[in-house]
Amino acid sequence: MIIGTYVRHCEKVSSTNTVAAAMIRDQAPAEGTVITASYQDSGRGQQGNSWESEPGKNLLMSVILYPVMVSPADQFIISRFVSLAVHDLVAGHSPAARIKWPNDIYVGDDKIAGILIENSIMGDMLATTIAGIGLNVNQQIFRSGAPNPVSLRQVTGWELDLAAVTVDLIAALDRRYDMVIRGEAATLEREYHKALYRAGEWHRFSDDTGVFEGMIEMVMPDGMLSVRKRNGVSRLYAFREIDYIL
Ligand code: BTN
Repeated sequence: MIIGTYVRHCEKVSSTNTVAAAMIRDQAPAEGTVITASYQDSGRGQQGNSWESEPGKNLLMSVILYPVMVSPADQFIISRFVSLAVHDLVAGHSPAARIKWPNDIYVGDDKIAGILIENSIMGDMLATTIAGIGLNVNQQIFRSGAPNPVSLRQVTGWELDLAAVTVDLIAALDRRYDMVIRGEAATLEREYHKALYRAGEWHRFSDDTGVFEGMIEMVMPDGMLSVRKRNGVSRLYAFREIDYIL
């Protein structure tokens, strides 16, 4: 076991990712160290967004890793394994769990978890990874204006034991990270694709050319999304170059 050998719980922090970065700077924490919090007053999301979470209701976690066996060109494998681990956990509560590229976790058309990966690179390897995970567990009213939030409480209809969910997620993360260490990248790619939201179906998207109908074909090893248009032409997209129309 690597992930979860040491778990530090904080009542209130700015952001568990920020605490993790300070620990890496000052304390040389062991690989797999997990930081959890009951509340963040400056929770961070992707693209500079904030992350809403009512005190004590949800899972807020950051994991510190030193994935030196991963080259910078292959760093999307970190997103894949973390997404799959959160998906494993959520799928245990709902068959409608999916991974929305690149690393949101959805139930149906609603977002139940977000992931913020912060990697540092040294030469030709990843030196450090901070994998921040926010999973909505027992919150029932969302105020931030996020378009489509949902929680496990809302999906299942009952209140969940947050400590038990935390233990289950740490176990899922450890299992999936073990696959990275063992070089099982192809299996991670296959299982990520199987869980991929809207893959292999025609849906509406928009890009710099406007709204179009397309079909997600695959996510490339470097994390680019391949989408085929009705005219048969496929195009690769980086994060934020394509929007899903719900
Ligand atoms: C997203 O925008 O979808 C990513 C959200 C990530 C939120 C988590 S909560 C724990 C960790 N600490 C943070 O400040 N952010 C991540």
